[in-house]
Amino acid sequence: MGKKGKNIIHSRPNFGRSVSTSDKSIVRSGRRLILGVSASIAIYKACELVRRLKECGFTVKVIMTKEAEELIRPIVFSSLSANKVYRAGIFDEPDTWEIEHVSLAQETDLILIAPATANIIARLAAGICDDLLTCTVCASKAGVLIAPAMNEIMYNNKITQGNIAKLKSCGYKFIAPRKGMLACGKAGLGCLAETDDIVKEVKKYL
Ligand SMILES: Cc1cc2nc3c(=O)[nH]c(=O)nc-3n(C[C@H](O)[C@H](O)[C@H](O)COP(=O)(O)O)c2cc1C
Repeated sequence: MGKKGKNIIHSRPNFGRSVSTSDKSIVRSGRRLILGVSASIAIYKACELVRRLKECGFTVKVIMTKEAEELIRPIVFSSLSANKVYRAGIFDEPDTWEIEHVSLAQETDLILIAPATANIIARLAAGICDDLLTCTVCASKAGVLIAPAMNEIMYNNKITQGNIAKLKSCGYKFIAPRKGMLACGKAGLGCLAETDDIVKEVKKYL
């Protein structure tokens, strides 16, 4: 025991999130990651992100929001992740008897949400659990990394900033957006962080 990678007892990167830590130590057989994908125009960058995370040896399970499916089809993520894509509905017939959001929440070492819309950030900050992604985050003791992507005004909106501050105070980590050309055609803050920087951040914790 003690050597990296082989059935080591390892505590998950909880980031001090305000959840009970009674089962802090788990036997970890791999580096399991949930990638939550929400309906930002930056969603196309999540495709490359999945590919890069797979190259790093992570097991990637993608959960898409319902609106994300309006922008890109789940088959793209299932092909890139070599895994089933988990879709928004919590009342869909699961593959096994397990309650999907609970088993997903317990089986992961880290939850990354990229791109994260203003909407998913707001729902998480309010504790709303109305789809598979929000339920899984709420039911998990794993660390949560959030990479926002949105219009600069949406990002600077006091409500969005208040939601981010609230989540940070609960132990959620953020990968700040960068300045660049936004979908609206104007330059500003709100572009999804570079894929390299997101991968680097994930590697810090897994
Ligand atoms: C083409 C298009 C692009 C969008 N891009 C963004 C975005 O980059 N960031 C964002 O916060 N919202 C964006 N929105 C709005 C969200 O899709 C909308 O708030 C949606 O309800 C988010 O749902 P979700 O957070 O459950 O995925 C976009 C909407 C459309 C139609």
